[in-house]
Amino acid sequence: MPLQVSLLVDLSEKDRSRRHAVLCVFKVEYRVWNPFRSKIASAILGGIDNCHIVPGAKVLYLGAASGTTVSHVSDIVGPTGVVYAVEFSHRSGRDLVNLAKKRTNIVPIIEDARHPAKYRMLVSMVDVIFADVAQPDQSRIVALNAHSYLKVGGHFMISIKANCIDSTAEPAVVFAKEVKKLQEEKFRPAEQISLEPYERDHAVVVGSYRTVKKKA
Ligand SMILES: C[S@@+](CC[C@H](N)C(=O)[O-])C[C@H]1O[C@@H](n2cnc3c(N)ncnc32)[C@H](O)[C@@H]1O
Repeated sequence: MPLQVSLLVDLSEKDRSRRHAVLCVFKVEYRVWNPFRSKIASAILGGIDNCHIVPGAKVLYLGAASGTTVSHVSDIVGPTGVVYAVEFSHRSGRDLVNLAKKRTNIVPIIEDARHPAKYRMLVSMVDVIFADVAQPDQSRIVALNAHSYLKVGGHFMISIKANCIDSTAEPAVVFAKEVKKLQEEKFRPAEQISLEPYERDHAVVVGSYRTVKKKA
């Protein structure tokens, strides 16, 4: 919902006899971020400590779809940050490309995230990888991308949909197995939260990459 905020600025310090008042009008846009449509929003409302997506961050976003959540990440990282948004569906990719025409900090990449070398010309080293591809091999996809593009000491955030990985096992068992796979790929998971009540049988795991454990 756009809101107009008025600010009165007095520029008349030099010549107090000739006062000039300047009215500056800023347009502030407030956007609704729906936790039922965005894993990052549901993780934040669920109380995640730190999603590491901050102003100025370079974010590699895997599973961008048509860009709903990407647009919010674009707002957060702001003009000094970048969102490299990877999506392999051409249909969703069309919306993503249109979104990037209006938001210059989004780089749309219509490729399969299983082949990060295909977008090596477009992506620089990033601070954060966020993944929401909902694929059985998602941990491997995140690892392939991290080994190519995530800075040492960078962070990852992955949304895990249990029944995409194993619909016969208990979600808690699936999440534990995925965490183990991530640990084997030099990730250090620091936090895991359930996305209930916004998403059923989903968890978000956040952590760091190639960091060494501090000695006590
Ligand atoms: C759950 S949706 C993502 C929703 C999106 N993150 C949002 O919040 O708006 C998963 C998306 O990942 C995409 N996807 C799945 N596998 C992929 C792959 N290997 N490479 C790129 N995109 C993939 C799908 O086409 C789909 O659009």
